This record gives sequence, C-alpha cells and structure tokens, in this order.
Amino acid sequence: MTEITPTTVNSKNEKTFTRTREQWTSKFGFIVASVGAAIGLGNVWRFPYITGKYGGAAFLVVYVLAALFIAIPLLMTEFAIGRKTQLNYTGALRKMRPGTPWYLLGLVGVAVMVLVLSFYFGIAGWTLAYVARSVTGSYVGLTPNEIAESFGKFVSNPSEVLVWQIIVTILTAYVVIKGIKNGIEKWCKILLPTLFVFIVVLAVRSLTLPGAATGLSFYLKPDFSKLNPEAILAAMGQVFFTLSVGCGNMVIYGSYLSKKDTIGGTSLTVAAGDSLAAFLMGLVIFPAVFAFGLDPTTGPVLTFITLPSIFTQMKFGMFFATLFYLLLFMAAFTSTIALLEGIVGYVVDEWRWERKKTVIYTCIGLFILGIPSVLSFGPWSDFTPFFGKTFFDAIDFLVSNILLPGGGLIMAIFAGWVWGIKSALEEINSGEGMKVGSWYSISIKFIAPIAILFIMLQGLGIIHF
Ligand code: PHE
Repeated sequence: MTEITPTTVNSKNEKTFTRTREQWTSKFGFIVASVGAAIGLGNVWRFPYITGKYGGAAFLVVYVLAALFIAIPLLMTEFAIGRKTQLNYTGALRKMRPGTPWYLLGLVGVAVMVLVLSFYFGIAGWTLAYVARSVTGSYVGLTPNEIAESFGKFVSNPSEVLVWQIIVTILTAYVVIKGIKNGIEKWCKILLPTLFVFIVVLAVRSLTLPGAATGLSFYLKPDFSKLNPEAILAAMGQVFFTLSVGCGNMVIYGSYLSKKDTIGGTSLTVAAGDSLAAFLMGLVIFPAVFAFGLDPTTGPVLTFITLPSIFTQMKFGMFFATLFYLLLFMAAFTSTIALLEGIVGYVVDEWRWERKKTVIYTCIGLFILGIPSVLSFGPWSDFTPFFGKTFFDAIDFLVSNILLPGGGLIMAIFAGWVWGIKSALEEINSGEGMKVGSWYSISIKFIAPIAILFIMLQGLGIIHF
C-alpha cells in the first residue's frame, strides 16, 4: 500500500506529500499471500474435474509442462515487473516504456481482474451460506433431488444471495483497507495454513471411504486418447487461471517485495503450493463422489449439489461439510483479497486516491457489476446468448482460455523482446537464493509466445493440424 504522509508545507502553505510504499514483512508473508491469491475456486472445482475429464495423469503431464515453460516464467516476470518499478502493472509499463501504448496491457489486466472479481464475490458468498447451512444441518436427510431443488431455490432468490455477497465484499474490504502488513499478510498467515490442514483432513476422510479406489482411478489413470487440442487448451487455461497470471495481479504483490531474495525460488514455491492444493482437492473430491456412486461434475453442481448429497449420507457428515465449505470460503477469500488489491493498487498508484476511499468505491462498483453473474444461475439461467453458454460460463471461458493466455502472450513478448531478457533476469536474480538463467530466457522469448499462440488457435478451432 502506498501511505500518503504530509511532510512539508510549501510557501503557499499547502501540504506536499511523499509516498512510502509498504512492504511484506517477510518472505513467508509474501509467499502465503501469493499462494493464497493463486489458490481459489480454480483449485477446488475446476482442476479436479477437468483433470478427470481430459485424461487424468495424461492431462497432468500437459499441465506440468504448461506450468514449467509458460506460467511459472510468466509468474516470475510479473513479480519482477512489480518489484523493479514498485508500481501496479499499468504504472509499471508506463514507467518502463514511457510514451508508448504498452500501458494499455495493464489496463486490460485491470479489466480482467474486475471481471473475475465480479463473479468471485458472489460465489464466495454461496460458500459462506453453505457453511451456515452445514452448521445448522439444514439439508440433513434430504435426497439428492431435494438438495438440488434447495440449491436451485437458494440461487434463484436474489435477496438471500446478495446478502451473502455483501458480507464477503465487506470482509474483503476490511482486510484490504488495512493494507499489506496489517491486512493482507496478517490474514493470509492465518488462513492459508488452516486451509492446508482442512484439505489434508478431508483428503484422509475421503480416501478411507470404502470404494474410494474407483474415484482415484477416474482421477489419475492416464488416458492419452483424451488429450485433444481442446484438452491442451483447457490445461493451459487452467494453469493461467489457477496461478492468477496474465492480468498483472501478481505484479501488485511483487511491487511490495523487498530486494532481499531472488524471485525464482519464491515463484516456484508459490506454484508448487498452488498445485499441491489443487492435486489434494482431487483426492478429496473423487474418492468420495465415486464411493457414493455419484457422477463427477464441476463447478456449482459439484460443490453445492453433489457434495452435500454425500455429506448427508456420511457419518459426522455435517462436521466434514462445515470444514469443506470453510475451506472453500478461505480459498475464495484469499483470492478476492488479491483481486481487490490488484484493482485498488492500480487506483491508488495511478489516480492518487486514498486507499480507504478507493476500497469503498471499488467494492460498491464491483457489487453492482457482479449482479448479472449471480442472476445467471437463477432467474437468468435460461439466458444463454453467448454461444449457448450462460453469462457465468461465458466469463469463465473468456477469462481462462482467451484473456489470461492472451495477456500472457503479450507479456512474454514485452519481457523477452522489449524490456529485454537481460534486464528481466537481472531483476529476477537480484537478492539471495536460487538464480535462473537459460530456462527462463528460452521459455519467455520463444516457448511461451509460440506455444500460447499455437494452443489458442488450435484449441479454438481456428487452425487444424
Ligand atoms: N487463481 C484464482 C483461482 O484459482 C483465480 C484468479 C484468476 C485470481 C486470475 C486472480 C486472477 O481461483
């Protein structure tokens, strides 16, 4: 956060201001905040399902390759751009290449964060509602059909949904108003370790259910025949979405980073933490889904219909349900915090607004923008003008498969060919710790731009090989 402190009074008796930028208090603080930014709904309801759908372990191979040669180098680039300039993405690009249109890439990034956050707040609200429902046992004893009906009623009742959405928005605003050290870092240090404990408890519960093995084999058994161009685009889209790269969200976290440590090692830790959470989520979900003879699904249906049907049949089901929805809430919450900081950081740096005012106005705007997404599950669920997708599915597809990879492509060109690999590496490697070299250079200059372009064109059916 940029604090504005009045320092001197000039001859006209006006106060002038100097800005000092806050920093993470420790490497651990930065890592938990960044892993928190990365872990989110993408890990819980996107990763397990698309992994199962597109060939299990075969899909994971593509996922890991896309992470290693595309997304992780881009993550390092984002942190480096932020740390180098101590600014948000737009401001950073303007500072690095003044008088050129590069800063527009930052503005597109802000738009993407607004888009993601507009539906994220709503869904995070649902998770809180389901914490409440699990604690009170309100769906105990219902059949799967009745559970589906009750979810349908819940999402088509905008007033209830919007109340939960407001609660999450206020909680996020509360953390972000307090800034980096006393807000984001402090909360992520509590939320993230708790989240991992919950995942492990739930994974153990799920894996020890009778019949868990069928789920495991659906999840992980390699099936290379399912690896078509669509699957490869999905893997790349997933890596971008889950690591939050491509829109400059990680630039803002990098801008609060000190020069003490190199960026390479921390970025790998962030990517590993995020992937571990995603992988473990698959171990939570599939063994349980198959043990209870249900169909694996994705998104809201999985989270709010399939899983509650399982919890009601399980011994101590409401205890595990409460853990699960709290886990989901924490995952979503650390992402809403990061996304809001990405937008607020832009406004504070560029428009020179004060933080508190920025947070309040941004949250009001986001709340209003989020209403169509929320309604797309209920009253508007039949409104599918976007290639047969609902408003929510359309945003999800647009963000993961087009905007983030597209943004990453241009960012790779910027770092590799405009800012220059030498300067990028200098920033990444400054400090103590692991240094990177040709792996980064080759990935950013060649592999990432070519692979992203190729995978996007092929996956969208524009070219065929
Ligand atoms: N990484 C988050 C998730 O997996 C989503 C996200 C995407 C957040 C892009 C910020 C920017 O849920």
